Amino acid sequence: MRLTRRKFVRSILGAGAAAGLSAAFSSCSGSSRATPAASSRTTPQFASSSTPPFPKGFFWGTATGAYQVEGAWNEDGKGESIWDRFAHTPGKIRNGDTGDVSCDSYHRWREDIALMRAMNLNSYRFSISWPRIQPSGAGVANAKGVDYYSRLVDALLEAHIRPLVTLYHWDLPQALEDAGGWPNRDTAGRFVDYVQLVSHALGDRVSDWTIFNEPDAFVDLGHLEGTHAPGRKSLLDFLRATHVVNLAQGEGFRALKAVRPKSRVGTALSMSPCEPATDSDDDKLAAERAHAITNTWFLEPALLGRYPQALTFLPETAMRIQPDDMEKTRAPLDFIGINLYYRIIASAPGTMERFSHAQEWLFPVKMDGGQQGPKTDFGWEVWPKALYDMVMRITRDYNQPVIELTESGCSYNDGPDTTGAIHDARRIEYHREYLSALAHSIADGADVRGYHAWSLLDNFEWAEGYSQRFGLAYVDFKTQQRTLKDSGKWYAKVATENRLAV
Ligand code: FCB
Repeated sequence: MRLTRRKFVRSILGAGAAAGLSAAFSSCSGSSRATPAASSRTTPQFASSSTPPFPKGFFWGTATGAYQVEGAWNEDGKGESIWDRFAHTPGKIRNGDTGDVSCDSYHRWREDIALMRAMNLNSYRFSISWPRIQPSGAGVANAKGVDYYSRLVDALLEAHIRPLVTLYHWDLPQALEDAGGWPNRDTAGRFVDYVQLVSHALGDRVSDWTIFNEPDAFVDLGHLEGTHAPGRKSLLDFLRATHVVNLAQGEGFRALKAVRPKSRVGTALSMSPCEPATDSDDDKLAAERAHAITNTWFLEPALLGRYPQALTFLPETAMRIQPDDMEKTRAPLDFIGINLYYRIIASAPGTMERFSHAQEWLFPVKMDGGQQGPKTDFGWEVWPKALYDMVMRITRDYNQPVIELTESGCSYNDGPDTTGAIHDARRIEYHREYLSALAHSIADGADVRGYHAWSLLDNFEWAEGYSQRFGLAYVDFKTQQRTLKDSGKWYAKVATENRLAV
């Protein structure tokens, strides 16, 4: 459904023919390692020399996810997660990589904090591994798991770094998957129990939370495309998981507020502005559908108690929506977390395509990546204006909400030269331009409180394993040595001066 990450080139219809109905949601086919197209964007979209200043107290941070950095997959009583199971299944991850050890942050978190201090950062967005807290997804908390996060939080506070804690970054306890997973309504109740445990354990020191990381990604890639854990490929599972996750978001919000009324609770949504491919009315309609499924599918149930018009009709029975459910999905989020990497170009399928692909009745949209900007090593288009456009649209449509940029970043696989230095000039350019776009959105009225570069470290990039490096710090996965890249040093200067260093 989502124009995503892993597959960035062509959209729905090409893939749809072979795979039947479920492919209507598979968003795009083609290789994620597309040959970089020639760039036709040679000048910056926002000149950094005229960049407005960032507000006082702005949060400069980095982001990570538990499975992507922690390792220690079976230590101290941690239960198996769906990502452990998925990565241990041959053929699922590039090069057979797993997160078993990853960056070993479970043991090396002090080194991670030292890197953040070296960069003068004042915010760290990390996630809690649910199966570390509840190994089988239910019951009392595993004390050793709680201790790990408790120590991490204490050390961050001591370093004057705000912990911004994500409750779920994709690693469901495998036991809950075995009981039906996210398509099973009961999982929302399990999630609420887990949220209560965590807020009791850490809520005296943690004030800022994101409930989910990119629900559209784990619901789509995990249940429809099958490229992420748990690897299901079912339209029904996609529709059911959508609704259970929206319920869990609303109920989780209330559970946290009940334990810690003063906490600030948001959710981190993957967003991309959706531009119509042409000026035609059909393409414009397609772009609005793409916007609904990509950006507001998990936002409007929270803010407005309704699903946006993404599909030609809402299959309520298939989604198992019960009376009063849309009251339960409501959550007046204290801030909207935006993860933003690229834009989407949307168009309506032609008549021939509609006839030849029955699935088009439900989601008649083709989504492509933009082709004008330079590409990262992952094949994602670098398009800073996407950030400006998205932040401004959310600002306009939802009455100037508080926004945090919870992720943005780029994969460039530059390694150390003979002196050990990592000259990743393209990453500096990326963050400089995206930050410049952000500063302009703030100057134009958006209430943005922070920016979190993805990522602190090179880490396990899901189905791509260790083949994509996003870090401001380089990780030598043989020795676990961490080294700040040029981009990390540059980011340190920006954070220290609270403005873009030219
Ligand atoms: C985001 C994910 C994050 C990471 C980056 C590159 O979609 O939230 O875990 O994989 O992409």
